[in-house]
Amino acid sequence: MADAEDIQDAARFHVGVAHRSEPFFLKGCEHLDWGIKNRLANIFDPTSGRTVMLAFDHGYFQGPTSGLERIDLDIVPLARYADTLMLTRGILRTSIPPSYNRGIVLRATGGPSILKELSNEEIAISIEEAIRLNAAAMAVQVYIGGEYETKSIHNLTRLVDAGNRYGIATLAVTAVGREMTRDARYIRLATRICAELGATYVKTYYVPGFETVTAACPVPIVIAGGKKQPELDALTMAYNAVQQGASGVDMGRNIFQADNPAAMIQAVRKVVHDNATPQEAFDLLQQLKG
Ligand code: R5P
Repeated sequence: MADAEDIQDAARFHVGVAHRSEPFFLKGCEHLDWGIKNRLANIFDPTSGRTVMLAFDHGYFQGPTSGLERIDLDIVPLARYADTLMLTRGILRTSIPPSYNRGIVLRATGGPSILKELSNEEIAISIEEAIRLNAAAMAVQVYIGGEYETKSIHNLTRLVDAGNRYGIATLAVTAVGREMTRDARYIRLATRICAELGATYVKTYYVPGFETVTAACPVPIVIAGGKKQPELDALTMAYNAVQQGASGVDMGRNIFQADNPAAMIQAVRKVVHDNATPQEAFDLLQQLKG
């Protein structure tokens, strides 16, 4: 009898079977601790490895932006289609139901309004506050080549230090000043600097030659939507970006200023998560609108 029990025990312990350890799905993030990986898995979808971030933090420097006048009425209904929300702590506390259970990306720098020099930002949140609000990531604006370049880089590195201490990711947002040429050379420079200085992931703009930007950046990149464009153009930009190595989009105006934001975000998801072509996603958009 004793012998038979030993055999059963050996079977349960799977002696001789190597311990399984799933590789983490995000580029450049394998070395991170469990907590930060868990938070990242609440921003990026582990199945596609990509994200549709719904960005509506614009009010932190430009007040009630068109489409964001009533976040409670116009944005909250879209939250179910987003992989994560990018917003300020004021809007999170006042307008987002705490039952929202995906990652929160908190705007963590600010200061000047559109009436002033925008690049002169400071860190605008403490790490304790980010933890209290259950942030998955903190977003910091970085102005490479701007008047306050060094200050914005210091904001990034301070937040990276604080975030790494507690397992919260840092999203570096490359802001392109009016005096900068928005081309692959500049975007490669800006994104690579952010990654080198510790950003967990980087948000930037889609430009021709984008595959060289993603190739040269050792952490995930998501693209900003930018100004409102015709829907097919915005879907094409998202498609080109993910096909050229982006890990998703952080899209605001092209969703919340669309004539049917709920349909548009679902069409964007089709491109990002299902590799749908822009035309397939546009057809879905028309169908949902109908
Ligand atoms: C801009 O500074 C904000 O951080 C926005 O979140 C970002 O630009 C993405 O929004 P949009 O797609 O409207 O450009």
